[in-house]
Amino acid sequence: MTNLSDPKLAVPGSAEHRLLLQLDPERLPRHIAVIMDGNGRWARQRRLPRVAGHRAGLRSVRETVEIAARLGIEILTLFAFSRENWKRPRTEVGTLMGLLREFLKKELNEMVGNDIRLSVIGRLDDLEPGVRRDVESAVEATASNGGMVLCIALSYGGRTEIVDACKSLMRSGIDPEELNPERFAEHLYTAGQPEPDLLIRTSGEMRISNFLLWQIAYAEIWVTDTLWPDFRRGQLFQALLEFQQRERRYGGLAQAKKRDRAAAARG
Ligand code: FPP
Repeated sequence: MTNLSDPKLAVPGSAEHRLLLQLDPERLPRHIAVIMDGNGRWARQRRLPRVAGHRAGLRSVRETVEIAARLGIEILTLFAFSRENWKRPRTEVGTLMGLLREFLKKELNEMVGNDIRLSVIGRLDDLEPGVRRDVESAVEATASNGGMVLCIALSYGGRTEIVDACKSLMRSGIDPEELNPERFAEHLYTAGQPEPDLLIRTSGEMRISNFLLWQIAYAEIWVTDTLWPDFRRGQLFQALLEFQQRERRYGGLAQAKKRDRAAAARG
């Protein structure tokens, strides 16, 4: 079980520590997915080039990965680069790919040391061969780790993923009568993973942006105005606290209503 008294989670007596202590370690989400947004705005507010926002965002990635792993989260999925992001200026795309390679190089030892397994979802064929090689070798180097799965979405689009799943199903020759949501999910990039319980989006936009369209059907959504480069453990703890205050019904009835109904049925 998660040890919330790990001093590396928060400095005792700090505001973050007070939030941490309110968490129920037994009701943490298994899978957290994050739409990291607001790097450009963060840079603009400081009259810096957009790429400075992305670089600053990498510090938030490092802290989020470390804290999620210490909390014992099973899967952390980060939306690092969408298929639509290829439309950005070449220099910005180049910077983002460079930051990804830097992250993989610098964090590989940390990932191995912390038992983190790297996984990637998206159209990896779209990546430049050097980037793809670095991604694949980091995935391979961490393949036997048994702790948190860090899943990075790269050249990812939710609709493309669903179309790719349909192609894979058609190629498998499945009888249409045999198809159901569980069988369908086996053909998604995320096959075998539990679906996200919590979806975090930074920078205040109320959009899904083509992220994990199938998988977030029952995810709790938490949006913060904080821009991604300012996102730290305090915001993560806040998201987890609010997650624990929600009642997840999956289309069923609230526990209280169920109890009332059972009591009424008993007379
Ligand atoms: C959105 O901000 C952010 C991105 C498109 C990229 C996120 C990438 C990183 C944080 C760095 C690399 C990540 C990893 C996992 C190694 P935006 O540019 O759309 O911001 P804006 O909406 O304010 O313009």
